[in-house]
Amino acid sequence: MQIRIFPNPDALAIAAAEYIHTLAEACISDRGHFSLVLSGGSTPMHTYRQLVNQSHKQDLDWTKVQIFWGDERCVPPDHAQSNYRMARESFFKHVPIPSENIHRMACEDDPPAGAEAYEGMLREQFPTGELPQFDLILLGLGDDGHTASLFPGTEILEEQERWVAPVFVPHLESWRISLTLPAINASAQSAFLVVGEGKAGIIQEILEASTVDPIHPAQRIRPQQKLMWFLDHAAASLLDPVD
Ligand code: 6PG
Repeated sequence: MQIRIFPNPDALAIAAAEYIHTLAEACISDRGHFSLVLSGGSTPMHTYRQLVNQSHKQDLDWTKVQIFWGDERCVPPDHAQSNYRMARESFFKHVPIPSENIHRMACEDDPPAGAEAYEGMLREQFPTGELPQFDLILLGLGDDGHTASLFPGTEILEEQERWVAPVFVPHLESWRISLTLPAINASAQSAFLVVGEGKAGIIQEILEASTVDPIHPAQRIRPQQKLMWFLDHAAASLLDPVD
């Protein structure tokens, strides 16, 4: 696991975008493609914007990049709450990526059917593996320890067969669909992007957990190769200083 701490959210976004861009170039050069799973919420928008800047500085063959989502709110694609809309406005409408490479989670009409359809698409994209081998999954962290739409106490946390499942979030009174833990943990790498004082408590609980038993959903994220935490100073403010 690698923890990188940055003075502010902009520095984190620049570093995260550089990391993503470098990994994409390596994957495309090694295997001819790069599969990136986007996170929702507000934090990653700055990184998406920096990815656009990065790609203006250094060419990337966007035809070789496939974009997926880790989770989506079950709202129309132009809704203010849509993770797709946030990524479109801040990122992929500004780069020459073919529209067929953008795999939106369409779950606004029927969450269970939307989850099934997304899983069907993933099984076409990843026909060989038992699970979808994404190259990199970006993840956010809620102050209750959720990530993607794996909220504490929800059944999706125990899902072991499906790659995508619908989840009703009681305190938000809303439906979402999300990759399940087996699908997320099949990825080569996962990177949490976490900023702000409000996340300092949960970051301390997760990164300085005294017990090995994962209490929070975010503690159950175990990619195949590499887990990274991109934190700003505020989110890392309760961590013991590294000597
Ligand atoms: C979502 C996300 C969710 C998010 C966290 C953090 O769809 O909301 O997938 O897991 O990453 O809630 O959100 P912020 O970045 O807005 O704090």
